[in-house]
Amino acid sequence: MQIDIITLLPELLDSPFRHSILKRAIDKKVVTVNLHNLRDYAAGKHQQVDDYPYGGGAGMVMMIEPVANCIESLREKTTYDEVIYLSPDGQLLDQPMANQLSLKQNLIVLCGHYKGIDERIREAFVSLEISIGNYVLTGGELAAAVLVDSVVRLIPGVISDETSALFDSFQDNLLAPAVYTRPAEFRGQKVPDVLLSGHQEQIDQWRYDSALERTRQRRPDLLEDPE
Ligand code: ADE
Repeated sequence: MQIDIITLLPELLDSPFRHSILKRAIDKKVVTVNLHNLRDYAAGKHQQVDDYPYGGGAGMVMMIEPVANCIESLREKTTYDEVIYLSPDGQLLDQPMANQLSLKQNLIVLCGHYKGIDERIREAFVSLEISIGNYVLTGGELAAAVLVDSVVRLIPGVISDETSALFDSFQDNLLAPAVYTRPAEFRGQKVPDVLLSGHQEQIDQWRYDSALERTRQRRPDLLEDPE
């Protein structure tokens, strides 16, 4: 998979891809993440990327020309499945959406800033708008990091035990079950006996019950029939 991220703050996105699982995925060439500084695609001495909104009002608006230049230059080399714009107005990111995106080959991710982007960018270039939650961030960069993390970890070969992503919270509309590691007892708090029993069937049943109970208590909305 290739992910091209267009941003005015590439430094903000440097660190998330240089550590842990995402770094390994990049090192193994399972995924390539390219950061493109939007300012490099802006014209003129001042490389202007934003301007005042027509009609007045507070805040600056991201201009269409630099975005068009950047996306068009990327498209000369690569065909993209989606051009994603991160915005609080977008479709809420959830596990099914991450699953679907993990099957794609090439993605452009556009990070917004300021008051917003010129509406014509959405009309001309954006195929999918994604929000990571019902709150407003200062820009799309942190949301892009969240999106890319949630997608890349699902690509086969990224998480060493491939099956572990299948048992994530939300994959079957259940939260993950409780997990424990050594010691078997800490200050009187004991690990449930069944997990030490070696009976795989009983362990699986316990994990399912634990996931169900946790979901009932914390996220009963996930158990509601969508019909
Ligand atoms: N940009 C600003 N707020 C955002 C959000 N909640 N999700 C995605 N992008 C954003």
